[in-house]
Amino acid sequence: MYLRSVNSLEMSSLGKSLPDPLSNVEVKYTKIFINNEWHDSVSGKKFATFNPATGEKICDIEEGDKEDVEKAVKAARAAFEFGSPWRRMDASERGKLLNKLADLIERDIIALSTMETIDAGKPFFTSYMFDIPGAVKSLRYCAGWADKNQGRTVPTDGDYFTFTRHEPVGVCGQIIPWNFPIVMFAWKIAPALCCGNTVVIKPAEQTPLTALYMGSLIKEAGFPPGVVNIVPGYGPTAGAAISNHMDVDKVAFTGSTEVGKLIKQAAGKSNLKRVTLELGGKSPLIIFADADINAAVECAHHALFYHQGQCCIAASRLFVEESIYDDFVKKSVELAKKRVLGDPLKPGTQQGPQIDKEQYDRILDLIESGKKEGAKLECGGGPWGDKGFFIQPTVFSDVKDNMRIAKEEIFGPVQQIMKFKTLDEVIKRANNTTYGLAAGLFTKDVDKAIVVSSALQAGSVWINCYSALSPQAPFGGFKMSGNGREMGEYGIHEYTEVKTVTLKISQKNS
Ligand code: NAI
Ligand code: MG
Repeated sequence: MYLRSVNSLEMSSLGKSLPDPLSNVEVKYTKIFINNEWHDSVSGKKFATFNPATGEKICDIEEGDKEDVEKAVKAARAAFEFGSPWRRMDASERGKLLNKLADLIERDIIALSTMETIDAGKPFFTSYMFDIPGAVKSLRYCAGWADKNQGRTVPTDGDYFTFTRHEPVGVCGQIIPWNFPIVMFAWKIAPALCCGNTVVIKPAEQTPLTALYMGSLIKEAGFPPGVVNIVPGYGPTAGAAISNHMDVDKVAFTGSTEVGKLIKQAAGKSNLKRVTLELGGKSPLIIFADADINAAVECAHHALFYHQGQCCIAASRLFVEESIYDDFVKKSVELAKKRVLGDPLKPGTQQGPQIDKEQYDRILDLIESGKKEGAKLECGGGPWGDKGFFIQPTVFSDVKDNMRIAKEEIFGPVQQIMKFKTLDEVIKRANNTTYGLAAGLFTKDVDKAIVVSSALQAGSVWINCYSALSPQAPFGGFKMSGNGREMGEYGIHEYTEVKTVTLKISQKNS
């Protein structure tokens, strides 16, 4: 479980002490990674990556575009050719390479955590405690699968012997967002590689640093050239070149629903590549009156405010039963007001900046809409500090289902608290959304927990907890929150083509 917020007290109870971040990060890897080598962009263009806590530029990065994607896909295709070192490698060896990569990440955890904090605005303790270890866990989980993705023998009619092979799909084009840069990088390469695919991955333009650092570790671990290629760049250029490419066999995307639709269209217009999508959400969390209210308040707080609210699973529609509503709002506001904002590199900081000006403006606009549409602003409601993209922890009560803040994904530190009276009513309201990524509920009544969890239209449902993600469990969305699953055994199958092989034999015996 790694998408959970902790304070320093909780962390000491986990038995870990927090090291200092690096005082000076030297960014060594700023180029395009193809065939285990560093390349300049074909166009000669570069783009800047910024520190969202200060608004200052960190460095320039080579800007990948269509021609660079072309080179990367050629490299990935060559690495996937029949008889290539990667195709000939024992499956168990692929597992060893993934474990080696995980070891190297652990070796460099402080550098990677510092880089993730500077580039993505994450409090250092969350980078160090959750994001980097989360990436490691995902790699190790998939490493274990490398030699266990087995086919079957099939009792076909007639004198035949039939078996299935689980084969890799081919060249996988992976497009990832900025909210969990290294975790998403791991989620997109680990299942692909354990099944024997090759990869062209595009990190988000806001957060290329840890992805490129991973390129150096992939080379050091000993992956053959061309197995993983990393092309930093923008969505409409490098991203679209991947999703439209005739020689990319699968695309896995995490990001907005809007771009998810474009990716499916591009797949349909080009080569019908396989597509898995993990998109947005407007996830409900339902608190019944019999719940442990203090535990529910705290969990609901983290379920929304973790990583500045920039989580696809953020519990951004909180339904609280009428009889405990006022108390719940009061306690939630107290907690929100206590949040410590500031430099994400500093120990004790719980909340850093939003990722960029675009997201910051979008969130402030949604906050204004909440005020205008008549929700009650309990705390926060505006920018924080004099530099960077910080927003005050904001709580709205008396939120109605038809308000924009109750319908649109805010992706910011803005909590919406709604009131409900009956079980049937809350199920209907919770499901009344085009999204279906996650949901949660708090109750001590086991029957209610099972009935409601069955009724909720969401890919993950958490009972008396939230955000309890783990690499062993599949993750993905119902409805417009996506297609397919990531991680867990279901996620492995998304990177597999099933081949049925039938052999004529002289005589079959049962
Ligand atoms: P986005 O969907 O535009 O960006 C995600 C990735 O897709 C980035 O790597 C981007 O370069 C790429 N991309 C953009 N346009 C593309 C295109 N035409 N073809 C191929 N790739 C393309 O998301 P953005 O603009 O960063 O955020 C907008 C909203 O999306 C957020 O406010 C949030 O609601 C949602 N979002 C959801 C995420 C999730 O975890 N499910 C992550 C990031 C954003
Ligand atoms: Mg966008």
